[in-house]
Amino acid sequence: MNKIPRIISLLLLAFSSGASIANEDSRQWVELPEMMQQHMMSNMRDHLATINEILINMANGQLDQAAEIAESRLGMSSLESHGAKHMSGFMPVGMRQAGTSMHRSASRFALRAEEGDLLPAYKALSEVTSACVACHSGYRIR
Ligand code: HEC
Repeated sequence: MNKIPRIISLLLLAFSSGASIANEDSRQWVELPEMMQQHMMSNMRDHLATINEILINMANGQLDQAAEIAESRLGMSSLESHGAKHMSGFMPVGMRQAGTSMHRSASRFALRAEEGDLLPAYKALSEVTSACVACHSGYRIR
């Protein structure tokens, strides 16, 4: 069995799709003051860490813990600590909506997780990550 042609074609696929992603980057630019960009990016890194911690807790069957993390760091309770109100003033409507949808769905996830059923909780969590994806595919900042 010869694997080389397959590897080459996979490599070609990877390069060509990478190139087309770069060429077709049609995300809307959003202008933010430098300080806010940094603040937002640091929020973002915390968002990813939060999703990771939620998943680790779910895998360990600690749904209450997952709920608490989601509500305090991504949910409606986190708005103030993220400076969301201040930042949302700089965002186009669609971006703001994606942000609101992320916070709301994180709070909904927390409620589902507290109920203790894994499957509905995972479904609710996927609504949170869908909000991440929606915003990322539409916007970039500078
Ligand atoms: C309201 C829009 C919005 C939402 C919602 C959002 N992001 Fe982001 N995120 C952005 C933008 C804009 C960037 C910067 C992209 C760019 O300029 O290329 C970014 C960047 C990031 C980065 C890169 C940070 C760095 O330091 O480079 C991570 C990680 C990230 N987001 C994670 C997440 C996760 C996880 C979620 C969901 C829980 C999420 N984001 C939700 C808009 C959003």
